Amino acid sequence: MNAKKAAADKAVELIQDGMTVGLGTGSTAYWAIHRIAERMKEEGLQLQAVSSSKNSEQLANQLGIPIIPFSAVETIDITIDGADEVDGESSLIKGGGGALLREKIIASNSKEFVVIVDESKLVETLGKFPLPIEIVPFAAELTIRRLEQLGCRPVVRMADESTFITDNGNWIVDCHFDEIKRPGELGERIKTIPGVVEHGLFVQMASTIVVGHLDGTTTVR
Ligand code: A5P
Repeated sequence: MNAKKAAADKAVELIQDGMTVGLGTGSTAYWAIHRIAERMKEEGLQLQAVSSSKNSEQLANQLGIPIIPFSAVETIDITIDGADEVDGESSLIKGGGGALLREKIIASNSKEFVVIVDESKLVETLGKFPLPIEIVPFAAELTIRRLEQLGCRPVVRMADESTFITDNGNWIVDCHFDEIKRPGELGERIKTIPGVVEHGLFVQMASTIVVGHLDGTTTVR
């Protein structure tokens, strides 16, 4: 059984008719988007969605989920999205897929933010997964030097031979901290660096964590 799919299917049960839904990005959110489309067909649910990436928007379009632009969003009832790491306090590292800015905007404007992960994403302390930070390409070297001073090894994300470019035209720097003991504090420090657009620490944002297990069961917390 696919643990990511199990978590996604469970989370999509929370969606009700008439809701505006935030769509996540990545291989776990992929399953959620599929299940949302299935429920719309099976149960005749009327939903609209806002997408955290061009990839998820394309998938939603293919599956017949109506997408509204950010400018038309009034309320987002629920967002369902994956994560790269989840600690015991439900703080997250996100951005492995490079969509962290839109993901954070959507999540922070949602009444409910439901995180879907397989059990391999659960950690005691965040930081083994390099922290993705979106920066403006202009003066990148200066911004990266400031990030390095926070005690990490910054690596500019590449896509094959060229620099990876986000949906917003920016770069991602993957910052190897190894251990992030105080994610809230670190997040605040990162945000004070001019040139940083957003970082992948999502602290005290998740309302629910749905963990999928290999036997197809789920744990909700
Ligand atoms: C996308 O930018 C990320 O935040 C994803 O939500 C995260 O990387 C989890 O991805 P998977 O579900 O593919 O592991």
